Amino acid sequence: MSQTLTIIKPDAVGNGTAGRIIAQLESAGFTLRAARLMTMTPAQARSFYDVHRERPFYESLVAFMTSGPCIPMALEAPDAVRRLRQVIGATDPAEADPGTVRALYAESKERNAIHGSDSDENARREIGFFFPECDRVG
Ligand code: RTP
Ligand code: MG
Repeated sequence: MSQTLTIIKPDAVGNGTAGRIIAQLESAGFTLRAARLMTMTPAQARSFYDVHRERPFYESLVAFMTSGPCIPMALEAPDAVRRLRQVIGATDPAEADPGTVRALYAESKERNAIHGSDSDENARREIGFFFPECDRVG
């Protein structure tokens, strides 16, 4: 078993599709190991997306991610990082495979409903970012 970090982003929480997205993740075989509902501060969003700080979309991304509540969750499954990215689909919903979370629920390349860690190392870092009180989640 391995773990990954997902975030139901503020667009999906705001438009009432968070529950359907969580149900889709559970149907795809993921077990919830930690979850919280929070509104990220600008400092938290800047830190979480620090890898993108030189990108032209950084300020807009920080504004979006702090615009309302989001739901970070630690998920467990075999091959969790790779499988979650398959289930959520391409960054731009116009390029996401049919049936993926982003194809079903994302509004745009930025307002794209969900985050998924991109490596085991980043999954560990991101789980620790949102759930620092847990030595290990689950
Ligand atoms: P994520 O990190 O949220 O799972 O998404 P990702 O790996 O598919 O995309 P990434 O390249 O890491 O970008 C992080 C988030 O920034 C926003 N974005 N906007 N306007 C744009 O061109 C653009 N590109 C990326 C999206 O919210 C993306 O998920
Ligand atoms: Mg990414």
